[in-house]
Amino acid sequence: MNFTPPKGTDDIFPPASRAWRRALLVWEDLVERYGYDLVLGPLFEATEIFTRGVGESSEVVQKQMYTFSDKGGRSITLRPEGTAPVVRAYLGSGVQGQAKLSYSGPMFRYERPQAGRRRQFYQTGVEYLGTAAPDADAEVIEIGYRYLGELGFAEVDVALNSIGDAECRPAYLEALTAYLEDRRDMLCADSLRTLEVNPLRVLDCKVCAPQLLDAPKAVDYLCASCRDHFDAVKSRLDVVGIPYTLSPSLVRGLDYYTRTAFEYIATGFDAAQNAVGGGGRYDGLAEALGGPSVPGVGLAMGIDRILLAAGLDGKDITPLDLFVVVATPERRETAAGFLSELRKVGLRADMAPEQKSVKAQFRAADRRGAAGAVIVGDEWSDGRVAVRNLATSTQELISLEEVPEWAKSNL
Ligand code: HAM
Repeated sequence: MNFTPPKGTDDIFPPASRAWRRALLVWEDLVERYGYDLVLGPLFEATEIFTRGVGESSEVVQKQMYTFSDKGGRSITLRPEGTAPVVRAYLGSGVQGQAKLSYSGPMFRYERPQAGRRRQFYQTGVEYLGTAAPDADAEVIEIGYRYLGELGFAEVDVALNSIGDAECRPAYLEALTAYLEDRRDMLCADSLRTLEVNPLRVLDCKVCAPQLLDAPKAVDYLCASCRDHFDAVKSRLDVVGIPYTLSPSLVRGLDYYTRTAFEYIATGFDAAQNAVGGGGRYDGLAEALGGPSVPGVGLAMGIDRILLAAGLDGKDITPLDLFVVVATPERRETAAGFLSELRKVGLRADMAPEQKSVKAQFRAADRRGAAGAVIVGDEWSDGRVAVRNLATSTQELISLEEVPEWAKSNL
């Protein structure tokens, strides 16, 4: 039996999973503060949610979906992204008007695996539905930026663009197509194919893009309302102090975007996969799924990439505050009761499941990555225990009531 996970997937195991847990806790806390409710949905959907939602011309739909027929003969696809499913759930819920929704979980894309590009990867995201207001775009962009800040990212670039809407995009696409047609000999085989279905996506081709820097830019073709919207998004970002870089060549990989498009680039991370998150506005998505017109804007952060780019491998995160060491075997039950009290007051605490020598218990504390130890011994009869900082090996005797405070200020 081979114990390695399938190609392009990972077991997120301790100590790496410690950084994951922290990243997910920080996310939930952050989006709750911004007023987003949680939505949980299936990991698979009817395939048409993605063909209609994400779009036939996107690489995701064309090449990367895990699609299969279930035993009932339905075409099913493991979700490659979360936005189309959340909009589907919103439309199905009967809720009308605005909804602020957050989600997190694994997504699946059949990609060529490399560092930061996995076949199963984890996204956290928000979708702000039912409003076309530019304030919503700015809030969503702010959330991703603050998230990276709270995880300790120092170098993040918010790449920002507007790709127009149904009113102004046709004229832009016409100009872009004419420009690309003139340069067919410079385009790779993939781009020549993309040119027929979605010329915008040619600008996203890693091979061709460097030769196309003078291509017409969507921002130069925006209609008055798209321009006003874009200006309002930028000024709101200025107000809340979110720096951004205007990136006229930023086109996103999914077809549903209108107006605002953005990505978070980890500039300190020298790798191909340095886009740690992205999103944008998608005012036509609900209609593409067969629903009424519901404007929306959202983002998704790629947790695998974020942790890789930040160099967070979980090793510096202590998973336990205190390990209870039982020095006097007769006090084992008392110690178990004390352990329960420590947990009740919010400390992360544990002890060995069987009575072993004190030395073995300290070894266990070390293995478990505890920051400190409480040693339950004969001093218990005076209401005292020894506490030890396991990093510095300093030890002192304190009263039982003082343990939580000691842990807070000494570990
Ligand atoms: P996306 O840009 O396709 O957007 O994915 C968002 C993030 O997920 C990327 O920036 C990246 O960090 C991560 N990601 C994507 N593919 C992989 C992969 N194969 N391996 C590891 N990480 C990956 C979306 O999915 C949109 N649904 C975002 C959105 C929400 N737009 C509006 N609302």
